[in-house]
Amino acid sequence: MLPQWIIEKKRNGGILSESDLDFFIGGYVRGDIPDYQMSALAMAIYFQGMTPDEIACLTRVMMHSGDVVDTSGIRLAKVDKHSTGGIGDKISIPLAPLVASCGVAVPMISGRGLGITGGTLDKLESIPGYRTGLSVPEFLNVLGTCGCSMIGQTERIVPADRKLYALRDVTATVPSIPLIVSSIMSKKLAEGIDGLVLDVKCGRGAFMKTRADARALAEGLTRVGRAMGKRVTALITAMDQPLGRTVGNALEIVESVEILRGVGPEDTTQLTLLLAAEMLVLGGVATSPESALPVLRGKLKSGEALEVFKKMVSMHGGRTDVIDDPRRLPVAAVRVDHVSASSGTVQDVDAELIGRASLLLGAGRTKTTDVIDPAAGISGLVKIGERVAAGQPLATLHAASRDRLEAAQQLLPQAFVIGEGTPESPPILLERV
Ligand code: URA
Repeated sequence: MLPQWIIEKKRNGGILSESDLDFFIGGYVRGDIPDYQMSALAMAIYFQGMTPDEIACLTRVMMHSGDVVDTSGIRLAKVDKHSTGGIGDKISIPLAPLVASCGVAVPMISGRGLGITGGTLDKLESIPGYRTGLSVPEFLNVLGTCGCSMIGQTERIVPADRKLYALRDVTATVPSIPLIVSSIMSKKLAEGIDGLVLDVKCGRGAFMKTRADARALAEGLTRVGRAMGKRVTALITAMDQPLGRTVGNALEIVESVEILRGVGPEDTTQLTLLLAAEMLVLGGVATSPESALPVLRGKLKSGEALEVFKKMVSMHGGRTDVIDDPRRLPVAAVRVDHVSASSGTVQDVDAELIGRASLLLGAGRTKTTDVIDPAAGISGLVKIGERVAAGQPLATLHAASRDRLEAAQQLLPQAFVIGEGTPESPPILLERV
């Protein structure tokens, strides 16, 4: 077998077999197949697509390119959540301890932000001392003790995706459903989970801009998970305006703690509860999402979910005094309000522009080697449907320097639309798949 025969088969619209994919992906990970042949195959997949069986097969081969975490020593059901990424999406942080407080274990391997979407690891690392790079035995120890642990991908988990994702990024082959599905699902399934809830974001601030694209991705992800014997549910959720009132790493930790205290913004709290309810059903501790909701609200009210979060942070080496007093988190040198020029109702807040402004403030990266500023970002964001008076802040910008601030300020006027209509606050849940 030669790599070019497999590329040719896919280029001509053929269906790749398990042995084709094993040979190709295995060879690529070992370094026997060079980047240029992998790029050619990725482009052929981009144009020709893959059947559901092929995608499941590619996912399985990628997942087994490295270690699969053995969670069999943990007797609780293991359920995780994956979000396709959005602006202000801090949901994993309150969600994991909330679900763990209800008796379902959450082994969460998260990513970093790239471009305008934030990453859970960067947010957690704004807690001084928090180590995201635990070894697998340390991860299992935290998981067994707290019921949840949140770490980054290790060298040995899905090495095929590490290599392939970097290559796709520079060969214009990221937006391919078979490649996205196999990339996401191979990493999630390598966590040793029994079930998975997918939060597929849809809208301006998301990867998938239209409902049809979001549905196609959600169906692709759920189909592969179920084909591999896992319990999987997907929610398609709105990402036109930012989630919550903060964007930026330490700022989003503050908001996550507010959610855990039961005083978070309505949309983030609602989404946390919706996703957690699905996870309790998949974990077998609730019979329906509706019946899970009062239990989850009780865990926020009693402070049990917050206690699990503190314990997890402490076991990861993080300082828990910043959870009790968020003013001890990193604070930006420069803070300036962006005020409304007129009175009226907020008609729109553009998630994509807010994401770009946050990036310019220093909260994100434009290349993987950039160092982010944990204190940078935007807080106090108004939401669609709220009334504002002229001169009232629509948001507060946080940056390390005036230069960064001025760059972001250029974008802010276009990000908010204030007018006379009375738009309803848009629903967060669009569809359940
Ligand atoms: N996230 C991933 O992990 N992989 C993709 O291909 C796209 C988003």
